[in-house]
Amino acid sequence: MEARGVVAAAAAAMLVLLALVPEACRAEQFIVGDAARWTWGYNYTDWVVKKGPFFQNDSLVFRYDPPNATTHAHSVYMMRNLADYQSCNLNASKLVAGVMQGAGSGFEFVLQKRKVHYFVCGERGGIHCNAGQMKFIVKPKRSICRD
Ligand SMILES: *[C@@H]1O[C@H](CO)[C@@H](O)[C@H](O)[C@H]1NC(C)=O
Ligand SMILES: *[C@@H]1O[C@H](CO)[C@@H](O)[C@H](O)[C@H]1NC(C)=O
Ligand SMILES: *[C@@H]1O[C@H](CO)[C@@H](O)[C@H](O)[C@H]1NC(C)=O
Ligand SMILES: *[C@@H]1O[C@H](CO)[C@@H](O)[C@H](O)[C@H]1NC(C)=O
Repeated sequence: MEARGVVAAAAAAMLVLLALVPEACRAEQFIVGDAARWTWGYNYTDWVVKKGPFFQNDSLVFRYDPPNATTHAHSVYMMRNLADYQSCNLNASKLVAGVMQGAGSGFEFVLQKRKVHYFVCGERGGIHCNAGQMKFIVKPKRSICRD
């Protein structure tokens, strides 16, 4: 009886420890737009709805070709707030990845902070963001173990 109680207490303590240490949780990597990659006219808002939720430390990979005579340049900027995001006003935005950085395996952005991230393409003074739909919002959730 006594020994069984000790074992039970130890087991309970283990469960508490397991619950406190999230080391088994893994971050995932997402290719933005999947096969479409980061391009004009794809609905990234829809992509986020289908892929989400995203968790802290997940990463987003932006893939786009460097510009040449026949293809348009793309880039990744982060907007300061929702109003700038909605109006595609890049004045106070921050460059995340330049026109050359999406080449090859792409540019990886780790969602380290649990804040709202407003991503847009900054090319053509906001036209890619506006008319091209190259914009999406992601707010990573607290890292918890996935099923
Ligand atoms: C893009 O997808 C979102 C979410 O599914 C939807 O609400 C929106 O109407 C779509 N936009 C266009 C232009 O189709
Ligand atoms: C421009 O880049 C695209 C995509 O990488 C490629 O398919 C095309 O051949 C390139 N065109 C020229 C003229 O280099
Ligand atoms: C962005 O900055 C430019 C140059 O300072 C200014 O002319 C323009 O009105 C600003 N746009 C917005 C939407 O604030
Ligand atoms: C995210 O990754 C960093 C660096 O690897 C790590 O220090 C941090 O504990 C991680 N955060 C979460 C919530 O997993």
